[in-house]
Amino acid sequence: MTEAEEKRAYRFKGRVAMVTGAASGIGRATALGFAVEGADLAICDINEGGLRALSAEITALGRRCHLGRVDVSKKAEAFAFVEAAAAALGPIDILVNNAGTGQFQPFAMMEDDEYDRVMDINVRSIFNFSRAVLPSMMDRDYGRIVNITSIMSVIAGQGQSVYNTSKGAAKMMTQGMAVDLSGYNINVNAVGPGMVHTGLTRNLLGDAASAAEFEEKIPKRRIGVPDDIAAGVLFLCSDAASYVHGETLFIDGGMLCAR
Ligand SMILES: NC(=O)c1ccc[n+]([C@@H]2O[C@H](COP(=O)([O-])OP(=O)(O)OC[C@H]3O[C@@H](n4cnc5c(N)ncnc54)[C@H](O)[C@@H]3O)[C@@H](O)[C@H]2O)c1
Repeated sequence: MTEAEEKRAYRFKGRVAMVTGAASGIGRATALGFAVEGADLAICDINEGGLRALSAEITALGRRCHLGRVDVSKKAEAFAFVEAAAAALGPIDILVNNAGTGQFQPFAMMEDDEYDRVMDINVRSIFNFSRAVLPSMMDRDYGRIVNITSIMSVIAGQGQSVYNTSKGAAKMMTQGMAVDLSGYNINVNAVGPGMVHTGLTRNLLGDAASAAEFEEKIPKRRIGVPDDIAAGVLFLCSDAASYVHGETLFIDGGMLCAR
């Protein structure tokens, strides 16, 4: 392999990437994508078994991996994890705020606790982790942050009003952070998935008939897979995207443009 080919194949060699909610779905595919392309990984989740399985795959690729059982909605846990990961691997270059949850009660019946749970996991987590990594990124004048939002940040769904609210807030937090950090070589962007086969959509897409019904509404005529989303995250963290800032890249098989 020539030097140029090696640089292209290992776009993230020497970088430390942190992925929240990495134990399954989009977070897992993203973490593995970074590892394949040369990065060391800091991975956290509340699912420790999933983290251990992923960590084994990352280290088998020859990368270093630091894992932690972390509730992303808790500030102290987020800050402690960032500190421990930096001590183990070096400062964090890339942060993917991926951990997220769905909404389980309709708006009119929603309890305060459920509102707080959705908003804390989907929005406060971004606030927590981004503040924890930014001082070092600002000192070193390098950073890439990608927040996983959703097409539901710009369209409303039945029974999804608070999920919509959380993803809309995450989209605006991305834009606000991008403006605040102008002057630094720190890019902040979002990826907004459409419908993707993961733990989050397992019930919704449970049987073949439900999946087929969704596929009818997707111009690409298929449900996405986690790697479809990971590819966009990796692009936004690569040098090729150095002029992409404050943007949301929707990866949805054309769902938004068909509405
Ligand atoms: N799957 C889709 O169709 C879809 C569509 C749009 C957006 N998204 C977003 O993609 C992101 C990833 O979700 P996914 O689809 O891969 O689902 P997933 O359920 O497979 O993965 C989410 C991960 O987040 C973790 N998590 C949940 N709460 C946490 C907490 N408090 N602290 C730490 N970890 C926590 C879960 O344990 C899980 O491993 C989410 O932000 C989700 O909103 C998914």
